[in-house]
Amino acid sequence: MDKVFSGIQPSGQLHLGNYLGAVKKWIELTKDHECVYCIVDYHAVTQDYEPGKMQDRIFEMTAGLLACGLDPEKCRIFVQSHVPEHTELAWILNTVTPMGELERQVQFKSKSEKQPDNLNVGLFGYPVLQAADILLYKAQKVPVGEDQVQHLELSREIVRKFKGRFGYKFPEPQPILSDVKRLKGLDGDDKMSKSLGNTIAIDETPKSITKKIKKAKTDPQRKKRKDAGDPKVCNIYTMHKFFSSEKDQKWAAKGCKSADIGCGECKERITKNIIEHLEPIGAELAKLRKDPDKVWAVLAKGAQSCRREAAANLDEVRKAMGLR
Ligand code: TRP
Repeated sequence: MDKVFSGIQPSGQLHLGNYLGAVKKWIELTKDHECVYCIVDYHAVTQDYEPGKMQDRIFEMTAGLLACGLDPEKCRIFVQSHVPEHTELAWILNTVTPMGELERQVQFKSKSEKQPDNLNVGLFGYPVLQAADILLYKAQKVPVGEDQVQHLELSREIVRKFKGRFGYKFPEPQPILSDVKRLKGLDGDDKMSKSLGNTIAIDETPKSITKKIKKAKTDPQRKKRKDAGDPKVCNIYTMHKFFSSEKDQKWAAKGCKSADIGCGECKERITKNIIEHLEPIGAELAKLRKDPDKVWAVLAKGAQSCRREAAANLDEVRKAMGLR
């Protein structure tokens, strides 16, 4: 079985973007892969944040993953800082990572622009910690969004550099790209992101979902009710693709192109389908919030198992470097 590793930031709220873009894939992969999934708190602290809220964010993210159906019996789920070997390997990998490669990372550039007063070395070395996450478990496959492809290229470059310097070969990790890059935020401009306030959370109330979808952008060319629309460029249609039956998808596409249905009608239908889909997830999340020990126990078990493996793998690395 191939080994899969992926990480998610403890943003504190899973929304439709993460759910479709990451979580569904994560769940699917547990069927025929050995999967290790990490809540990356050490990555999160490279950005401005409030320390008092971090544990809540980690809890909410974990509970959200479980509520969506990620089964801790079929994979490991843990928190990055509970396995200190991640930062230790990151330090080691720092010594073979060229500065120039980090300077070229577009994520570093865009994050730097967002926090010009907090240009810390951790943010610069973020992709090295990400490489350490993956290599620590010798993972071959990494489900990620398009925006992480450059980081993974760098991970493979680090593998080659390490081999060249110390003769030790980690597997070169390959991305598994999700096919939902088309789902945008409700503003229709950017990807769904909590910080942009354009999301639908997995436990959003029906009332709030209805309100948000009512205001959501559709095909910008379709200005009047009688104008025909183009489902291909409509974010609401993208949602139909994921949450509606084949029949409803056809109804929406045909009605939009012929202007037989208006955006309002189309939105009512998707609202209903999304509410139905999220109902059991929201219920499960509410249950987990009332039983926090259960959630923390999942993370404790995950960390214990990961530490064992991480320690053994890191020992091999130290030996190769003449540190033992
Ligand atoms: N950088 C990833 C993101 O922001 C999160 C992440 C951290 C990750 N470590 C990882 C993803 C290792 C895949 C593998 O989405």
